Amino acid sequence: MNNILKNTFGFISQLNDAFTQLPPSFYEGLPAQNEADYVQRFEEKLLFTPSPIIPVGGQLPSGDPINGLFSLVTLTSAQMLRMCEGGQRAQVLEKILATVNALSDCNIVGLGSLTGSSVTGSGLIIQGRANTWLTSGNSFAALATVMSVEKIAQRLGLKLDQLTVGVLGATGSIGQGVSMELSKSVGKVVLAARQINLLERLKKIMPGQTVITTEIDDLKEVDILVVTTASSETLISVDWPKKGMIIVDETKPRNTPSGLKNREDVIVLDGALISVPDIDFNGMNMECPSGTIYACFAETMMLSLQGVNEHFNLGRVNPEVFPDMRILSQRYGLDIAPFYSFGNLISEDRYDDFAKLLK
Ligand SMILES: NC(=O)c1ccc[n+]([C@@H]2O[C@H](COP(=O)([O-])OP(=O)(O)OC[C@H]3O[C@@H](n4cnc5c(N)ncnc54)[C@H](OP(=O)(O)O)[C@@H]3O)[C@@H](O)[C@H]2O)c1
Repeated sequence: MNNILKNTFGFISQLNDAFTQLPPSFYEGLPAQNEADYVQRFEEKLLFTPSPIIPVGGQLPSGDPINGLFSLVTLTSAQMLRMCEGGQRAQVLEKILATVNALSDCNIVGLGSLTGSSVTGSGLIIQGRANTWLTSGNSFAALATVMSVEKIAQRLGLKLDQLTVGVLGATGSIGQGVSMELSKSVGKVVLAARQINLLERLKKIMPGQTVITTEIDDLKEVDILVVTTASSETLISVDWPKKGMIIVDETKPRNTPSGLKNREDVIVLDGALISVPDIDFNGMNMECPSGTIYACFAETMMLSLQGVNEHFNLGRVNPEVFPDMRILSQRYGLDIAPFYSFGNLISEDRYDDFAKLLK
């Protein structure tokens, strides 16, 4: 390990599916966006495009400096998942490793979004070939999701132990941590994913009352739904949620349709956003509201400032780290942001109207 840029963190993510994050020169020679072959030509070009590196600066609420480098794996989410499912996982892993190792002077690199998901075994598959320490960032992402559920229940006057909470993507890195932690305080949890054997294994270690299912429709009646899959697709329709459902959508790319904005009887929260008012991404579109960052990014910054010199909690999130994470986030003033829904701040009137609807 080089550790040349002491206290400098690195963070990576894949490209968004809106194709909008690369410098203007990349788009030269591509057909117009509405041409039929645009996506194919865009994706082909990406395969041979090196990862851009963007400096990130600013100050944490605690006054500690933000000093990092952000880089993009030049594959879109959909392309990454398609390649993995189509037998090209090795090529995807090489691109992720090249992006990580371009940041090897940083003292730790966070694997954002799908780069920290089952694509890399949440870091486990690539840890041996990385030239720096790694975190998936998923521990704080999972904790922030739990805190979001606690906070929205409190705001709406709901008692957690009387609620049924569903987790779609329960067997994943974040899903497992969220499910195990929430199970200690809510009335019942319903865990959903596609592979029944992994669900059965998870059920055995769950502390509270648990139902497992591979059918998304079995989640239709839950009071709060946490969505945390690694799918790049929309998994529920606008008319799917029951009246009064609260959805915490943790996914990037998101699994909930934007049409849900028009359902006044359903509330969708953009999950795991942390308030950091003073952060400068030098023009990079991070796809989160101004003054907020994703929890996985926040975790990477905290670990860097702590001088961590080992891989951190790769694989599925172990909720045993949550108490330390809570202390660490308080130390750096990193709290969950006021809630947003599809990028828009939720008004106090909206909460009040929704609380009335639940009565
Ligand atoms: N907001 C943040 O700070 C933050 C931080 C990190 C990650 N994320 C996002 O959180 C999400 C989860 O990440 P992760 O690392 O936990 O992923 P992961 O480890 O790959 O877990 C994905 C889970 O989703 C299930 N799943 C995948 N496709 C599905 C489908 N079509 N239908 C139902 N279940 C499906 C998987 O199980 P089966 O394969 O058995 O279905 C698994 O349970 C991602 O969207 C990621 O980008 C957000």
